[in-house]
Amino acid sequence: MHNPDDLDFHFKMTERYGHVARLHGGVIGPDGLYISDPLALHSILVRDQNVFQESTEFSGLFGVIHHGDQLASVQGDEHKKQRKLMNPAFTAAHVSKLSPLFYRIATELRDRLKAEVGSSSAYTLDILDRLTRTALELISQGGIGHTFNSFERNSKEFHEFHEALKDVLPNASKLFFILPFLESWRKREPAWLRRSLANLAYVIPWPTLRAFKKAVDTMHPVCKKVFYEKKAAFDEGGIGALSNTASGGRDLTTLLMQANSEADEEDRLSDEIVIANMSSIVLGGQETTSGAMSRLLNVMTLQPKLQEWLREEINEALSKKNGEHLDFYELNALPRLDAICRETLRLFAPVTFVWRQTMKDTVVPLQFPINDAKTGKEIREVLIHEGTPVYIGMGAMNRSIPLWGPDAGEFKPERWMGHQAHESTVEQIKTPGIYSNMMTFLGGGRGCPGMKFALLEIKTVMSVLLPTFHFEKTNDIVDWRLGITLSPYVRGKEAEGPQVPMKLSLL
Ligand code: HEM
Repeated sequence: MHNPDDLDFHFKMTERYGHVARLHGGVIGPDGLYISDPLALHSILVRDQNVFQESTEFSGLFGVIHHGDQLASVQGDEHKKQRKLMNPAFTAAHVSKLSPLFYRIATELRDRLKAEVGSSSAYTLDILDRLTRTALELISQGGIGHTFNSFERNSKEFHEFHEALKDVLPNASKLFFILPFLESWRKREPAWLRRSLANLAYVIPWPTLRAFKKAVDTMHPVCKKVFYEKKAAFDEGGIGALSNTASGGRDLTTLLMQANSEADEEDRLSDEIVIANMSSIVLGGQETTSGAMSRLLNVMTLQPKLQEWLREEINEALSKKNGEHLDFYELNALPRLDAICRETLRLFAPVTFVWRQTMKDTVVPLQFPINDAKTGKEIREVLIHEGTPVYIGMGAMNRSIPLWGPDAGEFKPERWMGHQAHESTVEQIKTPGIYSNMMTFLGGGRGCPGMKFALLEIKTVMSVLLPTFHFEKTNDIVDWRLGITLSPYVRGKEAEGPQVPMKLSLL
């Protein structure tokens, strides 16, 4: 299940084992359940979300990575409190205002690519590298109002921060046997003793632990510095003083600081919590989006006709605006772009599965009945015992044949054309997914708040790149490997790290 080369295990899950499967816990672990049934997931993520909580391992890990409590490491009322303050910053009304900023960053990418490609008829480059830089600029300028000068080849700030972002989760997953202890560890007092002990990571001859600590020590100070600079400006000149930042004062953190200053005392978040959330926004929004954009372009190279179909729509829309950029609402009104984004994010959800722990015995209903392994009888609900790890198969549900039809595993953007989201499933079954009836951005109280932000990023970048370049495949085969997010590797060149090579030429 965790094998990086067995993504197919998850994609074929419903076909092989149905929408609820028992996972044997091995010698020491408890048995778990792997669930991709829409009704059961509605219970787990929405109706009984307080019963199916973020695992202690994850809360502890993210609490350590971000130096404090933030969305991914708090539960119940504290989680609700943080979301209540943060959600308004992620609404369409606010995200749409980021359109000019995103367009500026996307055109910088385009102009740099143009210079690289020059008059070459097919210039080969690693698009993942360029889109990683773009995604970091989009999330850092749009999320925290800071630039890493990511497009500068030799930007030290970009390299250090990007290395940290890239290394932190893969190293953390190798520390799996200390993960259960991180949640209690991070709250242990006195803090100075905890910090001194943590610094032993630099002395103990354990490279993974050292690399993890180094990544954490790189990310936190950046967010802290950006926050205190903003705070000083805010305290002195109010919200107007924050318009001199990379985002012109429109970034999510500025909105959060403003909302925080206007909130009632009991709703207000401490500085530490705001800083931890800034860090979590950057980590949560970078690799997911760069992976999604690379995947979309990868699909375009494999299906040139589709690339042309999409380009035609974008060019037509641009010509109606005399070449001026397309804003949030105009981009969302393009059916082909929307269908291709949905289909890419359905088939290739950047996060394949997440897991929860069951806090008390709970019965969940099933959309697709299963047969009892002992009696053979049909079962329409399952009792999940306290302590059971529950794996939420997002990639699996997005490819379920009973849900999406016999062509569930095929890339068919036309399934979205002219339909409301839930009409695209075979029996118009509604799922708890917040994005077009699929699980890519999860659902319920912990559904991804950054969904609109991510979609605006992807659509803006595509609307800027496709009218300028033709994208063509190389002879390399790209395999997407399983991790906390999916990562692309060229077959036979895995040691070179993640990459998506493709040939570009100017149109
Ligand atoms: C294609 C891009 C993205 C995908 C597929 C994605 C997916 C997800 C998923 C599946 C979760 C739930 C994780 C869990 O509960 O264990 C999540 C949570 C989260 N995402 Fe995203 N995300 C994306 C982009 C973004 C962006 C751009 C931002 C920020 C602007 C962001 C911020 C967050 C935050 C803060 C959480 C934690 C929410 C909570 O626990 O309440 N994400 N995302």
